[in-house]
Amino acid sequence: MSCTTGDKSCETPRRRGALSVLVLMAAIFLTLSVFSFLDSRGQVTPDQISYKDYSADDGKRIFQAYNCMGCHTIVGNGAYLGPDLTKEYNHTGPAWLEAFLPSAGSFPTAAAVRTHLISPEQLKLSGVTSFEEYLEKYPGAAERLDRRAGKVSHMPNLQFREGEVAKLIAFLKYTAAMNNEGWPPAIQAGSLETRVAKVHGTSLVAAANASVSASPEPVSASGGATAEQGEKLVTDYGCVACHATDTTQKVGPGWGDLFGSSVPLADGTTVKADQAYLAESIRNPDAQVVKGYPAGVMPPYKDLIKQEELDAMVAYLVSLSKAGK
Ligand code: HEC
Ligand code: HEC
Repeated sequence: MSCTTGDKSCETPRRRGALSVLVLMAAIFLTLSVFSFLDSRGQVTPDQISYKDYSADDGKRIFQAYNCMGCHTIVGNGAYLGPDLTKEYNHTGPAWLEAFLPSAGSFPTAAAVRTHLISPEQLKLSGVTSFEEYLEKYPGAAERLDRRAGKVSHMPNLQFREGEVAKLIAFLKYTAAMNNEGWPPAIQAGSLETRVAKVHGTSLVAAANASVSASPEPVSASGGATAEQGEKLVTDYGCVACHATDTTQKVGPGWGDLFGSSVPLADGTTVKADQAYLAESIRNPDAQVVKGYPAGVMPPYKDLIKQEELDAMVAYLVSLSKAGK
């Protein structure tokens, strides 16, 4: 049949058909949309997760303030210098993170993790009743204590303020609880997790007991700052993650033969690297930025270190130079 102008009823069945398909599609679309929001499909929300007195939201702010994403990924976003942190909390647990984050320049020893687990509150937060149980529940912690305890880590020591570590753990607890449907995929052969079953043996526990009393000796104010103390401090403060002790460039310039040399600065001037310059470079690195290096990368240590510690580090840097011998 063909339509002629003025024939009112001619297109009605077709139009009706099209309209009902449209209505059906719209209904399907709306239903699916509603479903996708319902209970966020069992998804946790940041306000449901807390650690100590802090919410995951508090932690997200700290995570952003320190630009952790500049080196790490969370659910695929961020950079690849450090490992992905989405499920970190489930692997290593809160006590290991409490021990690692405040002194990230090196990996925590079993003694350090055990010290956190002395507190009943930390046992409860970790959901265990003993250090041994902790290692079973968090195989990533057992693995790291076995392989990396006390070794240098390539994460800079960020010198957090009061409460910030707990806030970060709250955030990592949240990301670990997210249902990201299997992402990131499990690491395959040679992974950290595959050898874990064998790790938490008695030897580790014995080692922890043996070294529980070992704590770093404070730098004495009276005895004078020595290069040896400085050498230890540059590891403790994570400086060596960014600086080589010879003339090799890492994130920052190498320290070898720095003292006594002429340093070209980003503003086109040159400065003699004397003790005052070295001290100021540590206290306030952005005041005089070395040519060819970015400003704002090295953290300012002025409020983080004591005068004796600064003196000791400068003494150590001087000792790395022919001019200082
Ligand atoms: C300048 C880069 C950098 C920044 C910034 C940084 N990290 Fe890291 N982080 C690393 C690197 C590199 C490692 C791996 C260390 C290694 O294996 O020696 C690491 C390791 C870690 C680990 C241990 C991972 C593991 O499974 O062993 C945690 C947890 C961590 N970082 C958390 C953070 C948090 C939280 C922040 C922000 C407050 C942060 N990082 C900022 C570079 C960085
Ligand atoms: C996250 C990386 C990073 C860390 C951690 C770091 N630095 Fe730096 N440092 C740099 C960079 C980048 C520069 C060059 C830019 C500038 O001058 O600020 C630099 C510059 C310096 C200089 C001047 C070097 C020159 O050739 O004139 C000294 C001295 C120094 N750092 C010492 C330290 C000490 C000591 C620590 C630890 C207490 C430390 N740095 C921690 C990245 C870092």
